[in-house]
Amino acid sequence: MRNKYAIIIICIVALVIIEKENNIISRVSDKLTLRRTQEHPVPYNASNTLVATGYNSSYLESIYGKNGSQAGRKHILLMATTRTGSSFVGEFFNQQGDNMFYLFEPLWHVERMLSIGSSGTNGSMSVWMYRDVLQHLFLCNFSMLERFISPPPRDHVTPSLFRRESSKALCEEQVCSPVVKYIFERYHCKTRRCGPLNLTMASEACLAKHHRVIKTVRVRQLDTLRSLVEDPRLDVKLIQLVRDPRAILASRMVAFAGKYQNWKSWAVNGEVPIEDEEVKRLEGNCNNIRISAELGLSQPKWLKKRYMLVRYEDIARYPMQKAAEMYNFTGIPMTTQARDWILKNTHASEANGVYSTQKNSSEQVEKWRLSIPFKLAQVVQKVCGPTMKLFGYRFIDSEQTLLNKSFSVLEEKQFI
Ligand SMILES: *[C@@H]1O[C@H](CO)[C@@H](O)[C@H](O)[C@H]1NC(C)=O
Ligand SMILES: *[C@@H]1O[C@H](CO)[C@@H](O)[C@H](O)[C@H]1NC(C)=O
Ligand SMILES: *[C@@H]1O[C@H](CO)[C@@H](O)[C@H](O)[C@H]1NC(C)=O
Ligand SMILES: *[C@@H]1O[C@H](CO)[C@@H](O)[C@H](O)[C@H]1NC(C)=O
Ligand SMILES: *[C@@H]1O[C@H](CO)[C@@H](O)[C@H](O)[C@H]1NC(C)=O
Ligand SMILES: *[C@@H]1O[C@H](CO)[C@@H](O)[C@H](O)[C@H]1NC(C)=O
Ligand SMILES: *[C@@H]1O[C@H](CO)[C@@H](O)[C@H](O)[C@H]1NC(C)=O
Ligand SMILES: *[C@@H]1O[C@H](CO)[C@@H](O)[C@H](O)[C@H]1NC(C)=O
Ligand SMILES: *[C@@H]1O[C@H](CO)[C@@H](O)[C@H](O)[C@H]1NC(C)=O
Repeated sequence: MRNKYAIIIICIVALVIIEKENNIISRVSDKLTLRRTQEHPVPYNASNTLVATGYNSSYLESIYGKNGSQAGRKHILLMATTRTGSSFVGEFFNQQGDNMFYLFEPLWHVERMLSIGSSGTNGSMSVWMYRDVLQHLFLCNFSMLERFISPPPRDHVTPSLFRRESSKALCEEQVCSPVVKYIFERYHCKTRRCGPLNLTMASEACLAKHHRVIKTVRVRQLDTLRSLVEDPRLDVKLIQLVRDPRAILASRMVAFAGKYQNWKSWAVNGEVPIEDEEVKRLEGNCNNIRISAELGLSQPKWLKKRYMLVRYEDIARYPMQKAAEMYNFTGIPMTTQARDWILKNTHASEANGVYSTQKNSSEQVEKWRLSIPFKLAQVVQKVCGPTMKLFGYRFIDSEQTLLNKSFSVLEEKQFI
């Protein structure tokens, strides 16, 4: 009897050790590859813009037909900042079904690689890399993204694509290679057992889909995307998702509590140093969002019918109506699959073709007011004022108003 237990315990210990080893090995190889990439920074020439990416015309014709983009094919960029519900809105498209290729934050790899090797690269260069990687991905070409994946893919196969499982198309049967031997995969498919991701297969699956959607919280300025939007091979539509910056701060203080110790102590101890770096960063973020939105709403020729602004608060209150508007804007017909998913996950109801939602969801939307100290709300209003005005977020002038449920901070506003 005792022997039996001893054997079981030894087995468990052995399993634990194997798992740990696996981790250690992959961590060591991570380190090695990082060192390698730092010694040889990603070759990049900012003057070589999109046009010079080496596609030959016969190849392009074979995919896109003789006259540019294939009829009806859409390329949607969902552009947001963190804590604006962009993962949720991304699902509206991810759940669309068979004709959709959805990617969740592919630029995560680019940002990470650049922040590691920042000694070699110029910060202002990252925006062009973001743009070029997006352009390649919209064309189903993963080769540029591959250069940023760490550890580097072998034979175009990687176990490390960020949040692979968040993209339905990357876990479909056709993209699911058999499991040959066990490799630890942090981002493995949940719906079926697949081996590491073969990016050649991903690219083929992408080409076979009709529409492509990429969600990103890493593009800061809309104007950096101009040549992407103007690429004749693409039919790009941009959806910018925004939210009340006071609510974003409140939400971030909960989600990333460790990073917001300073804010918490300011709230308790009196004055907020308006010159502080963190406050400056908040101001910079707000300005980027506003400048991008102003550009989009001003409808320059290159963005005509290609830009849409959506507020988080409106999606939370009228999810089905907003989803329908977004789909209408993109020109992609919404499938019943997407509709069902939204109904199921938002408790929206659909009666007589009129979309409504639970009556008290507007209460949910304003819940942050109970958690943010008034002093911090004031700081946000000070540095993000013009942004809040543009999007229709009302100012609050006292703690009493902050907590007064009859006072709505949301103006009803239409953005064309
Ligand atoms: C970058 O590309 C441009 C145009 O192709 C070329 O003129 C220039 O010499 C290149 N710069 C470097 C550093 O390679
Ligand atoms: C993918 O992009 C790379 C880098 O721009 C390019 O060299 C390659 O030809 C492209 N592949 C295809 C199939 O177009
Ligand atoms: C164009 O590219 C395709 C596929 O990449 C290749 O098979 C073909 O030979 C190329 N044609 C020319 C003229 O370079
Ligand atoms: C472009 O191609 C589409 C489909 O391939 C076709 O319906 C359309 O007539 C073409 N337009 C022009 C101007 O050739
Ligand atoms: C980075 O780029 C900016 C503007 O393009 C330039 O002024 C600056 O000197 C560059 N810095 C480095 C370290 O190359
Ligand atoms: C990846 O998929 C492609 C296309 O199906 C295949 O030709 C290639 O052999 C695969 N690569 C590996 C390493 O299995
Ligand atoms: C759908 O889009 C068309 C044209 O873009 C517009 O005229 C129509 O009002 C839109 N419908 C809805 C419900 O937004
Ligand atoms: C809000 O909705 C929930 C769930 O439907 C319900 O239980 C609750 O009573 C509602 N609250 C108010 C104030 O209407
Ligand atoms: C709460 O707000 C409403 C609407 O603005 C206002 O009429 C009411 O006087 C406020 N109540 C308090 C206690 O401030």
